[in-house]
Amino acid sequence: MAEKDAYQASKNYHEDVPPIKQTFHVKGMHHADWGLKDRLSRIFSPRSGRTVMLAFDHGYIMGSTTGLERLDLVIPELAPHADVFMATRGAIRTCVPPTFGKAIALRATAGSSILQDDVTDEVLAVDIEDAIRMNASCVAVQTFIGSKDEKSSIDSLNKAINAGNRYGIATLGVVAVGKQMERTARFFLLATRMLAEFGVHLVKTYYCEDFGKIVAACPVPIVIAGGKKLPEDEALTLAYRAVSDGAAGVDMGRNIFQAGDPAAMTQAIAKVVHENYTDKDAFGFYNDIRQKR
Ligand code: R5P
Repeated sequence: MAEKDAYQASKNYHEDVPPIKQTFHVKGMHHADWGLKDRLSRIFSPRSGRTVMLAFDHGYIMGSTTGLERLDLVIPELAPHADVFMATRGAIRTCVPPTFGKAIALRATAGSSILQDDVTDEVLAVDIEDAIRMNASCVAVQTFIGSKDEKSSIDSLNKAINAGNRYGIATLGVVAVGKQMERTARFFLLATRMLAEFGVHLVKTYYCEDFGKIVAACPVPIVIAGGKKLPEDEALTLAYRAVSDGAAGVDMGRNIFQAGDPAAMTQAIAKVVHENYTDKDAFGFYNDIRQKR
């Protein structure tokens, strides 16, 4: 009888083996609930502890951007080498097949276009129920610390954290730098720590001097934005310095999709982030791929 056999087979309880000690690889998240840890593990590789987030949410403020004119053509080419898609619900739903199995960092704030002089006036635009429908691993909320809209962006951030906490969805706090805002270590030290204390699960900011101090003072992982397009070797140096100083990866857009070879660049960035390649070795790798095409 099948049931009896199964019962007799289940006798090896390994009484002499202590319970497996479980650790968690994401900074500050040891006490998080299972579902949240599952989502964070889709963002941060359990093997390297880091992430390559591909940012292509630029259209929410800029419209069609150089390199992102045809999301349906570009993203599938880059997808195999990225861990996370950071984008708007409109871009993902219309142009990205749900079969790719990537973590989603869903851009959840909006409010201005580049036609405005001041782009700091944003609101929380995406309901948590829609983030759940999108199977988002985290929602991304832009904050404008130091601007006239500081308070409302903090309000949006806390609303997103409260909603996400109800369902185990992480919040990515994005430190925005406006035209009038500083880009100093002093500013990033303040802004990253504020976001972490509000309860975000990961922070996106810019690389700067004394970055190691900013990482040390921030109790959750920090990923760096790429910023304006740089020559490929300099973008790889930026990524290399950031992870060497403790960043848990990159959330990079223009320096990938505007590169001479975006797919090769995504792979080279992944070598730096996940395999500890130096910037020099990664640039060699990038050139090797280009030559083989
Ligand atoms: C800015 O907040 C946007 O979310 C971009 O996704 C972000 O700046 C990363 O893109 P890039 O590497 O092009 O700066």
